[in-house]
Amino acid sequence: MVVGQGTGVREVITPLSHPEPFLSRNMKKFDVLTHLRSSRSGHVSGAALAAAMGVSRTAVWKHIKTLEREGYAIEAVPSKGYRLTASPDVIVAGEVMQGLGTRTIGKEVLHFAEVASTNTVAMDLAQKGAVDGTVVIAETQTGGKGRLGRSWSSPAGNLYVSVILRPSVPISKAPLITLVGAVAVASGLRRQCGVPAGIKWPNDILLSGKKVSGLLTEMSAEPDRIRHIVLGIGVNVNMDGRALPPDIRRMATTLAAATGKPMDRTALLRTLLVELDLWYHRFLTGDTEVVAAWKELNVTLGHRVAVDGGSVKLEGLARGVDAEGRLILKLDDGTLRQVAAGDVTIMKGKT
Ligand code: BTN
Repeated sequence: MVVGQGTGVREVITPLSHPEPFLSRNMKKFDVLTHLRSSRSGHVSGAALAAAMGVSRTAVWKHIKTLEREGYAIEAVPSKGYRLTASPDVIVAGEVMQGLGTRTIGKEVLHFAEVASTNTVAMDLAQKGAVDGTVVIAETQTGGKGRLGRSWSSPAGNLYVSVILRPSVPISKAPLITLVGAVAVASGLRRQCGVPAGIKWPNDILLSGKKVSGLLTEMSAEPDRIRHIVLGIGVNVNMDGRALPPDIRRMATTLAAATGKPMDRTALLRTLLVELDLWYHRFLTGDTEVVAAWKELNVTLGHRVAVDGGSVKLEGLARGVDAEGRLILKLDDGTLRQVAAGDVTIMKGKT
């Protein structure tokens, strides 16, 4: 059952076996990192770390040595203490989860080196009972899925994330999950990277007119009940743009290119999960805030647009989105049309 392809929500059940995730549950080690990251003065003494964590100074020293072996650079200055000077560009599930402070998202995080698609893995895990808010991450995907049946190029250096959601809301509200995701990603990119991210309907995140992130939402449902939804998020972070096919390269950008420096993917992922948790809970208690935030962040409304819905092609003024996330278009003859699916091109100079 296709529930609303425009917003990318579709029914998929795929029983598959997947590679083993990297599991790292030495949480004390990540406690050390959290303290080092949050230290305003830069250095934290071994005694302060030991007291904050309720362990001995020797135990702190052992955790520091483990972190160094894993690629973290930690400066040790006598009489001042420890200071984190560099982190490896690797995502470690434990570090993502540590002190995240979310209510639902990221209570369980699974990290894979490579999968076909994190959405497929997440749909499979959800069917097997994975908890609400479970996050699946992969370094690369061999069969990354995009909206409208397209593929999503997935080279190393980016974020490929899927989140399992089990919202108790009517099935008609399911397409709004994509708006929740888009608002969370655009807000997270603004907060973490200081970039002016905007949303192009339904769920492309743009920087200066180029795509930096895309979302794909898949759902398993009964006729009147959502079983689970998987919200898939791809963010172009640090990849070498040459890894993309030339036709996509022209329309895409990365956060590293936009900011002029490589981004810490773990820090970005944590911010995205915190934002998603916030907007997901706002959505569960009523959707007006989500739609208002989406409108605030969108770059589509008020512009003349061309919508390619496959067999149907329309042109008109993008007037708004309705309560179910459909685009409201004013055609040239003055009639209003609600569009559930399609690709939007913003027609510059023709508003
Ligand atoms: C689009 O804009 O077409 C949607 C792209 C969604 C890509 C993400 S990457 C993580 C997750 N796994 C997938 O296979 N797709 C989504």
